[in-house]
Amino acid sequence: MKITLLYGGESAEHDVSIISAHNICQAIKYDHYQVHPIYITKEGTWLKGKELRTPTAYESQLKLAKAQIPTWGESEGDISTGVEISPGEIAGEDTIVFPVLHGPNGEDGTIQGFLEVLNMPYVGAGVTGSACGMDKIISKQLFDQVDLPQVPYVFFDGSEWASHQDVIVKKCEGSLLYPLFVKPANMGSSVGISKVEDQEELIQAVTLALRYDQRIVVEQGINADECEVALLGNSDVHASVVGRLIKEQDFYDYEEKYINNRVEMEIPAQIPEEVSEKIQEYAVKAYKAIDGRGLSRVDFFVTANHDIYINEINTMPGFTPFSMYPLLWGATDLEYEDLIEELLQLALNQHQLKQALHQTH
Ligand SMILES: Nc1ncnc2c1ncn2[C@@H]1O[C@H](COP(=O)(O)OP(=O)(O)O)[C@@H](O)[C@H]1O
Ligand SMILES: [Mg+2]
Repeated sequence: MKITLLYGGESAEHDVSIISAHNICQAIKYDHYQVHPIYITKEGTWLKGKELRTPTAYESQLKLAKAQIPTWGESEGDISTGVEISPGEIAGEDTIVFPVLHGPNGEDGTIQGFLEVLNMPYVGAGVTGSACGMDKIISKQLFDQVDLPQVPYVFFDGSEWASHQDVIVKKCEGSLLYPLFVKPANMGSSVGISKVEDQEELIQAVTLALRYDQRIVVEQGINADECEVALLGNSDVHASVVGRLIKEQDFYDYEEKYINNRVEMEIPAQIPEEVSEKIQEYAVKAYKAIDGRGLSRVDFFVTANHDIYINEINTMPGFTPFSMYPLLWGATDLEYEDLIEELLQLALNQHQLKQALHQTH
């Protein structure tokens, strides 16, 4: 079998994706798989690197530079190169695609739709699950449908804001208490998100968020711990132990979260057993509500008196050495290599199931 590793991408999480891809390369069983790295540059160019038969030594090896003929760095400091391809050229037999891509055009159903058209097996959620998981408004509405507890929220779009700003501000202030969180519906990695304390800040924050998406959600701020749980499986889904973020401040922006690794994790979270179990149960419910598959990390707020609110579901969480998702599985007695293997098998199973469905037409 071959694995096509898609990483990089145009989102803010480009660098996180490269570190994740490098980390995944360490865990692949090379006696069973050949790995084809495809680096998507920040500009959106697809570069195909040389086939890997052993783990990458450095993550910089995966940050391919464009070349006519691919060469492969042997020593430290060498820059690996890749040949530009058009996306459709990744099509091939006996290949599983691992899209280690975050944010828009990676985790939102677009790349998944493209892989469906190519009829290739791929790791993770399908089009529906990815799109619903990424969209903070749609996912909240789906969570409401299955009675998952959430903080109160208000949502609207740019044209409603332009014509009825006063009404929307009134609605926010009438149903939510400051501080509020203003978020673009489709972004991730805290891009465009603000915490606001008053009306003036609210208006500024909406203007900022509208730069990233036409649809906006405003949430009631909550003073709570953040707990996360990892899910693995297709229709038969399993939950890991729960982890907790140890925060020094209540809102981490992209830089602090991913670049400075300012967030420490407590795994497993020191919370009562029944709270953990409830979180696991809610996570599985959320996964089913969005049509999750393969994997997800589900994030919760847990207050001092152990009230639980779902925050969001991430259908392609990070895979860096500091990432909660693989660490949670490690603490649940699933080694990194076995986790990657399981994800590949789930991709194959899902694809086979789909092929069988097609044949009944
Ligand atoms: N309603 C809220 N109350 C308190 N903190 C929040 C709230 N919403 C978001 N935050 C803080 O902002 C962070 C980023 O928000 P989140 O919705 O998870 O966006 P992203 O998709 O970018 O991860 C959260 O991890 C949390 O620290
Ligand atoms: Mg988040």
